[in-house]
Amino acid sequence: MNVLGIESSCDETAAAVVTSDGIVLSDVVASQIQLHAPYGGVVPELASRAHLSNIAPVIQQALQVLPNGLADVDAIAVTAGPGLVGALLVGVQAAKAIAWSRKLPLVGVDHLVGHLLAVYLRRSDVPELGLRMPYIALIASGGHTALYRVEGVTQISLLGQTRDDAAGEAFDKVGKLLGLGYPGGPAIDELASSGDANAISLPLPLRNKRSLEFSFSGLKTRVAQHVAQNGKPRDAQSLADLCASFQRVVVTSLVGKAIEACRQQSVPRLVLGGGVAANQGLRAYAAEQAKRAGVHLFVPDRASCTDNGAMIAYAGAQLLAHGKRDGLDLGVFSTSSLLTGAPTDVAKG
Ligand code: KG4
Ligand code: ZN
Repeated sequence: MNVLGIESSCDETAAAVVTSDGIVLSDVVASQIQLHAPYGGVVPELASRAHLSNIAPVIQQALQVLPNGLADVDAIAVTAGPGLVGALLVGVQAAKAIAWSRKLPLVGVDHLVGHLLAVYLRRSDVPELGLRMPYIALIASGGHTALYRVEGVTQISLLGQTRDDAAGEAFDKVGKLLGLGYPGGPAIDELASSGDANAISLPLPLRNKRSLEFSFSGLKTRVAQHVAQNGKPRDAQSLADLCASFQRVVVTSLVGKAIEACRQQSVPRLVLGGGVAANQGLRAYAAEQAKRAGVHLFVPDRASCTDNGAMIAYAGAQLLAHGKRDGLDLGVFSTSSLLTGAPTDVAKG
């Protein structure tokens, strides 16, 4: 079965065709990073307008891989939330229009479920992952940072989440403070690789080992205080050192609590997901700590970590296999169903 997945929850307009066993046939992402960069963050109205102009060409490009285009698509999956309402509506309306005109099954996908299952995507000719459920998943993105126990696509429980900023948000805010542009995460990642992570002492948040909650807002403030007291780093090495020191604290917190979740749940399988899972420092430290703890670590390709349509297509395929299907009254929701028990409808499109 070929599923067309559409994603427009934030600042990427994305579409992909994925088979129900996770083989990625096409994956097109139109990023709006350049558009939002001058503002240091995503401007919702600009995002909606850019989605409107990008959505049709992105979908058309994703379909080019199929000999008969849309005629070879069996179902449509679309991110229905959480995200920016105006942005989500663009993808949802496009999905509904295609589903209606072609009489195809339609399924709305929680963006976080996409991230939670993205590890199963196969972008090259690789064998199946051999990852069985249940597993513990750490999702760290621009909007969310949380730990989940995943038993199945419809059986996901929240174990702990951030009390304030998401990890990606902390990367982006620190990046802005250091004049690294938007988004800060990839820039800090790059600079940290040549820095000394012990150069600047920053406190590890929520040290209580048993707590599965995160907090990154205080850490960001400590970096701001460091800059206020010492001035902005004056040379490349001090900038790299500050980035490495900040990144090390974020990564230590994320990985420490993820491994603790595996221990508490007696589940020796850990999956990473979300944009921050593309971080090289996180990937390396998670591999090291998982090995020490006897936990099997499963990390998606970097392209599967940041927002994409393929993860939505795959999650949609799994939901359809579980009998979930939406009608043309599919609305969008602003809060994840995984955090609250039930999504909050904010708009019917
Ligand atoms: O999952 P994602 O693409 O969008 C959301 O659902 O939020 O995540 C975007 C976030 C941004 O905060 C970005 O700075 C962060 O992921 N990010 C990274 C890296 N690549 C993206 N953070 C740290 N290191 C990276 N290499
Ligand atoms: Zn995301």
